Amino acid sequence: MTSEPQAGRQMHLGLMFWATGTHAAGWRYPGSRADGAYDIGFIQDVTRLVEEAKFDFLFLGDRLFTDPALAKTNPAQMSRLEPFTAASAIAAATSKIGIVATANPTYYDPYNLARLLASLDHVSHGRASWNLVTGADANAASNFSRSEHWETEKRYDWADEFVDVVRALWDSWEDDAFVTDPRSGIYVDESKVHPINHHGRYFNVTGPLNLARPPQGQVVLLHAGTSDRSRELGAREADVIFAAGGSIESATEYYGDVKQRAARYGRGPEDIHILPSLSVIVAETRHEALAIRDRLDSLLPVVEGKPEVRTGALGQATRPRDDWGITGDPVEVADYMQEWFENGAADGFNVFPPFVPGSVEAFTELVVPELQRRGLYRTDYSGSTFRDHLGLARPRNRFERPAAAAEAGQHQLAGANAD
Ligand SMILES: Cc1cc2nc3c(=O)[nH]c(=O)nc-3n(C[C@H](O)[C@H](O)[C@H](O)COP(=O)(O)O)c2cc1C
Repeated sequence: MTSEPQAGRQMHLGLMFWATGTHAAGWRYPGSRADGAYDIGFIQDVTRLVEEAKFDFLFLGDRLFTDPALAKTNPAQMSRLEPFTAASAIAAATSKIGIVATANPTYYDPYNLARLLASLDHVSHGRASWNLVTGADANAASNFSRSEHWETEKRYDWADEFVDVVRALWDSWEDDAFVTDPRSGIYVDESKVHPINHHGRYFNVTGPLNLARPPQGQVVLLHAGTSDRSRELGAREADVIFAAGGSIESATEYYGDVKQRAARYGRGPEDIHILPSLSVIVAETRHEALAIRDRLDSLLPVVEGKPEVRTGALGQATRPRDDWGITGDPVEVADYMQEWFENGAADGFNVFPPFVPGSVEAFTELVVPELQRRGLYRTDYSGSTFRDHLGLARPRNRFERPAAAAEAGQHQLAGANAD
């Protein structure tokens, strides 16, 4: 069923950053940083490792509810640094890699979030991204003075309008609104700053935002979800979709369906990048890789006499191997990725590292060169923004006037300066 590869098409790779690894026992694996979750120096080091391997992005997931009992089954999901705080510190220590911060709109206000993301885009010089999720935890409602977890329709109605408001706020300053000319004394061209006057079902927002347009124009939008509404939101708005892993059959169905939906919004297949999660254990030989995996599984905590067979990777069981990801030598891992990439299942992967940093080092040292050798992965960045890595153009500002009208405005401004 191999189809012709599209000439020059290359994979996109992200690293799911779970400090203690995506395997429930990853933090116990020799060489792992069991206490790394709160060490920003460690997080920066791991990010630099994948930046050297030319990864598209580092992914910071988030949850808004916790339970210490998760320590046994899913310690990386139990607690973490707040994503925007971590993202800012990561931005300061890197220069090319995209940085994805997860935020659930159910528990934000569009003005706050537009501001956080635009600020991160400025701080990182155009490398910010928002992973829009509507929430894995029904219990989160109880942490935000809400009596109930909204059902799917309401969460997505809210999210749809929320995105519209955030996008309008990002455009509320035209790119050249800041004149900052000490000679003329003009700091800002007020004609290029726009209220958005949004009056909708859930939000009333006047605008403008209180900071300059993000360097990327519109911050890169990621989305992760499963429902029909999620597919629709992703198809309409997302630049990247983070999809669940699983079988190539289910991934192909999802991929085809979302790209088809995107076409209905006038978007081409290259405008939306679908990246399933992929857990990888790789070593020089298959035998060694399997031994690492057995060792990891042997470190799983014993609950009621049975080992906990959970990877922590979205709750998938560690076995059977095919539903979990891939364990093998570099050629086997690259073959697996290539098969998905060339058969309509993936535009790349969000790589889940079972233990950190060991499995990240193994991936960057063994798999990335193999993918590069096959021409499936970049050997260097071609730009410095996240949009550049994704091959996405910088969007035009909705408020920008056609060039001739803008020029007339400039003349008026110059005239006003002379007075
Ligand atoms: C690949 C993937 C990653 C996700 N990451 C997060 C996350 O970081 N935080 C979160 O609260 N929910 C996360 N979710 C859960 C979604 O927000 C959503 O609640 C769940 O997928 C249910 O699907 P639905 O919202 O489309 O009904 C993720 C879901 C998927 C499929």
